Amino acid sequence: MSKLDANLLKKYHRDIFFNYSEYPTKDNWNYDFKSVDYKKGLLDWLPKNPSEPIMLYVHTPFCEQLCYFCFCSKEITNDYKRAEDYLYNYLFKEIDLLFSFLKKNNITLNVKEMYFGGGSPTFYKEKDFKALIDKLKTCYNFDNIKDFTVEIDPRRVDESKLLFYHECGVNRLSFGVQDFDLEVQKRINRIQSEDLFDSLLTDKVKEKFKVINFDLLIGLPGQTSKGMEETLDKVIKIKPTQIQPMLLHYDPFKRKYMINMLRDGPLPDFFDRQEMYDIVKNKLINDGGYKKAGFESYALPNDPLIKAISDEKALYNSLGTQTGDVTNFIALGTSGSGNLGEDYYFQNYYEQNKYRECISEGHLPTFRGVKLNEDDKIRRNILQFLKTYYYLNIKNFENKYKIEFKKYFAIELKLLKNFENDGLVICSDEKIEITEIGVHFTPQIINIFDKFNRILTYEDQKDIIKRQIPRKII
Ligand SMILES: C[S@@+](CC[C@H](N)C(=O)[O-])C[C@H]1O[C@@H](n2cnc3c(N)ncnc32)[C@H](O)[C@@H]1O
Ligand code: SF4
Repeated sequence: MSKLDANLLKKYHRDIFFNYSEYPTKDNWNYDFKSVDYKKGLLDWLPKNPSEPIMLYVHTPFCEQLCYFCFCSKEITNDYKRAEDYLYNYLFKEIDLLFSFLKKNNITLNVKEMYFGGGSPTFYKEKDFKALIDKLKTCYNFDNIKDFTVEIDPRRVDESKLLFYHECGVNRLSFGVQDFDLEVQKRINRIQSEDLFDSLLTDKVKEKFKVINFDLLIGLPGQTSKGMEETLDKVIKIKPTQIQPMLLHYDPFKRKYMINMLRDGPLPDFFDRQEMYDIVKNKLINDGGYKKAGFESYALPNDPLIKAISDEKALYNSLGTQTGDVTNFIALGTSGSGNLGEDYYFQNYYEQNKYRECISEGHLPTFRGVKLNEDDKIRRNILQFLKTYYYLNIKNFENKYKIEFKKYFAIELKLLKNFENDGLVICSDEKIEITEIGVHFTPQIINIFDKFNRILTYEDQKDIIKRQIPRKII
């Protein structure tokens, strides 16, 4: 079996809506885990790991216009006062609540990386963006920051704003590009031309930012193989240092407006999507000189991600494939989600009213969280390693976690047999390896190791959807 064929698709195609940027997946965290538990977690973990580097994530939940594909947590508004109110009356207070708690307990955060995501951090005017930076500068040592990324909506910046970000210490930019085909752009309600990028990514800008990432989306309405080739040609011409072609997560149960994408016809099917992934891979590697850098990720050979991949340090998480220099996140702002080592996950409220309510009452706005047990940690590592490297060295896991792999994962290995018989996985005493064809089915294969959401039948899938529907998370 060397080629992707329709029978394989029929047999294994299931939409796996978990990207395993975290495990256990968020719907299996503890909803009683609130501010008090988060603080306990911080007190438990930080003093034991004082020199562990931290990434500080800040969420900005505002955008000027709705993109129909968008799964992010945001409010669409043109009322700038909403953002000012959020920033000065709530986010600043959350910063105060967190850092005064840490100070009271003699804890300083070793912040090595910063990431501003959204929504659109570009929503802020320069003076307000600067005020946020100045506020954070009072909380930890900015001289230690090695990498500082901002997610950029290209329609809301110009060259001068990008250079301003650089003056604030930002050295990495992540652009939402998605697709350059005008027909696709119309169907997702997001028009942005290739010329716009020429005006933004000037020599001056390219010189200042050592990493420039482009997010692309596969599975958007109107995408065709020909269109994808043209988009890739344009991307290769602009030459960002990293490219993350992610699969569209289509879930109209949670984001009703996504059905707008179906107005002029269906979305590309599984087979179309795989064809487009092949085009992305061939174009980027053969024409663009990029290298594969883990799941849904490519980078130029001299980008730090490629070294991280070859050192097996890279890590797939909620921000895509990262170098793994910093693996602990502290998050601020609505929906912000973080982790401390392998031990804790936690997340803030999505809804602005709940977030604001907590802060007004003087609590950290923790919505849910989890303290991982040993089994969670083992599975988390397996899922993330397989997703980044497509193989697993069994001995390494046995040594690290003191388990007998074959015994511990007897059920999973049995379930993998099906994939093995179809040439999607090769299992030996030393290794589990996902084959070239198997890579197309990575989410389905690694789902076997997810104890909480194993999807083997249509009924399993229905149960999981049912569990997810009641939560409104926009
Ligand atoms: C917050 S957005 C990027 C910043 C900025 N708001 C923009 O759109 O340019 C982060 C990224 O999430 C990804 N994303 C959004 N919705 C998605 C979905 N339904 N499935 C997969 N990825 C999605 C997009 O690739 C997007 O670039
Ligand atoms: S993709 Fe970006 S700009 Fe579009 S709605 Fe989502 S967060 Fe906002």
